[in-house]
Amino acid sequence: GAVELGPYRHYMQKEIFEQPRAIADTLEGVEAIMPEIFGDKAYGIFKKIDSLLILACGTSYYAGVTAKYWIEAVAGIRVDVEIASEYRYRDSVPNPNALVVTISQSGETADTLAALRHAQSQGMQHTLTICNVSTSAMVRECELAYITRAGVEVGVASTKAFTTQLAALFLLTLTLAQVKGRLNDEQEAAYLKQMRHLPVAITSVLALEPQIIAWAEAFARKENALFLGRGLHYPIALEGALKLKEISYIHAEAYPAGELKHGPLALVTEEMPVVTVAPNDSMIEKLKSNMQEVRARGGELYVFADGDSRIASDDGLHVIRLPEHYGLLSPILHTVPLQLLAYHTALARGTDVDKPRNLAKSVTVE
Ligand code: G6P
Repeated sequence: GAVELGPYRHYMQKEIFEQPRAIADTLEGVEAIMPEIFGDKAYGIFKKIDSLLILACGTSYYAGVTAKYWIEAVAGIRVDVEIASEYRYRDSVPNPNALVVTISQSGETADTLAALRHAQSQGMQHTLTICNVSTSAMVRECELAYITRAGVEVGVASTKAFTTQLAALFLLTLTLAQVKGRLNDEQEAAYLKQMRHLPVAITSVLALEPQIIAWAEAFARKENALFLGRGLHYPIALEGALKLKEISYIHAEAYPAGELKHGPLALVTEEMPVVTVAPNDSMIEKLKSNMQEVRARGGELYVFADGDSRIASDDGLHVIRLPEHYGLLSPILHTVPLQLLAYHTALARGTDVDKPRNLAKSVTVE
């Protein structure tokens, strides 16, 4: 049946606010880390594989890039991430010992399906999908699956599907780490506890909406924006920029902050808002000096920091604080304010938020 909007103005807003529930549902029933949550044959496959090849499009691709940072750091397994429409047509070097992982909300994206079949035709038989639709072609055609429980996503711009993909990919990270002997019981319990606390942590991030609305008023008058992040939060900056361009039609680009000096700094003027994803992690001091480079050129900084970091608002430097730093799971929390910023900016510009021009929810033809 039709999904009701309830008190929300758009499906996108409703879906942003559903994230605590969507993540709780996606993690439901996971009492412990064990390969079987990905399928009966998962243990044998995970034991055998020596690397991962992640294939996806759009927002799902950025979930894959985040997973690369997690899996290489925690499980010590090499990960390649490729845009499905590129991989399917290029001459690559197949590795039969790689696990092919497709990530797809719909499970029907033509390029991702074609990329999966291409990998299989190259002799790569071990396949896993992270997918939101259990009856989809993707789930049928992959050996293993983890079904996210975001529920039906109506807004063309993906929100709850992305954060539930991240939750599933973090479970995959922990599972691979366990199989490779890199996760002890104590670490497993600590990570699981942190994951179960995500719905509460996201709820407190959603409460920042009024502050973000104030920023959105300023953004609505701009035609360009830059998003910066480093490490685990670089893909989150990419996703933030994608959300803003998809629904507000403001040109937005994301850069890993260390790359600023190799090009984008030339674009920075007083007219350029620079959104910085600045969690209180090991990269924070480096990021602060990147922010200095922007300030020195008159760029206006909009910083998403954590409660426990020492970044103070200043002239040309606006700060919104998330709760205390959330460690490896921080990308999930830092995604939420970027979704709200895009949403409220689009609202202020009067665009068709749920159905942005020229875009489709699911691209089932090439
Ligand atoms: C379209 C949608 C995006 C989505 C992408 C991949 O471009 O507008 O929101 O991220 O397809 O879709 P999938 O269903 O494979 O995740």
